[in-house]
Amino acid sequence: MGDKTLRPAKLPVTFGAPHRHYRVTDSTNDRARELVEAGAPGGTVVTAREQTAGRGRRGRVWTAPEGKALLYSAILRPLDARHLLLPLSVPLAICAAAEALRPGIECGVKWPNDVWLGEQKLAGVLIEARPQDAWAVIGVGLNLSIEPHEFPADLRHPAISLGSGITPERARQELDACLSTWAYAAEDAILAEWRRRDALHGREIFWEDGSGVADGIDDRGNLVVVSGGNRVSLGAGEVQLRLQ
Ligand code: BTN
Repeated sequence: MGDKTLRPAKLPVTFGAPHRHYRVTDSTNDRARELVEAGAPGGTVVTAREQTAGRGRRGRVWTAPEGKALLYSAILRPLDARHLLLPLSVPLAICAAAEALRPGIECGVKWPNDVWLGEQKLAGVLIEARPQDAWAVIGVGLNLSIEPHEFPADLRHPAISLGSGITPERARQELDACLSTWAYAAEDAILAEWRRRDALHGREIFWEDGSGVADGIDDRGNLVVVSGGNRVSLGAGEVQLRLQ
C-alpha cells in the first residue's frame, strides 16, 4: 500500500485525452454525462460533426449545420474549489483558442458566458455540473464556417463564424489546450482577463424586472449593474439579459 500523503491528489487535468468523436449524436453534453456517470476520467472530450438535439442555456435549442461548428463537451473532474469561476474561465479559454486559430481578431465576453466577435455571438457555453459528485460537463458550441444565411432566423442575438478553413478537429485541439490552462487559472487572473475582455461594460442592459448600466463583475463573477443610483449584483441563474 502506498503512502497517500505523498501523492499529489489534485493534479490539473489535460483536456483531449481520451477523445471520442461521433459523426452524429443527439447532444455531446448528453454523451459526456453518460461517460462521466460510467466513470470516465477528467479530461475526456466528446465531439460531434452533427447534433440532432443540441441544447443551449435556459432550455433553448442549439443548432449548427453538419461539420461547420465545433460541438464539444469536456469532462472536468474532480470539480472542486479551484473551479468556482468556471463559468468565466471557459469563455476566456474559447477567446484564447479563437484568437490562436484566427490571428488578428479580438474576442469579447458577454456575461454570463457568451463569446463575441464584434457585436455578434461567436460561441456559447452550457456547463452542467454535479458538485456533490465533483464533476462538470463543459459544453461549447463554436461557430466555424456557418454562413450568415445558415443561422436560425429567430436568434436572440446575431451570430458570426470564425471563418472558413478552420476544421473542427483543429479547433478542438486548440480549445483542449486553452481549456487545460484556463480551467485551472488563478481567480485573480480570471477576473482580470474577464474585465479586460468585458463587452458589456458601460452598456445599458435590461433584465426581467429591471434595467441599468453594466459596470463589470464582482469577485464572485456576478454582474454589477448601476440601476437607479444603486449598484446591484446579478447572478447568472437569476436573470436573462437583453441589450437594446
Ligand atoms: C448557449 O449559448 O445557449 C450555449 C450553447 C451550447 C451548445 C453546445 S454544442 C456542444 C454541447 N452540446 C450541447 O447539446 N450543447 C453544447
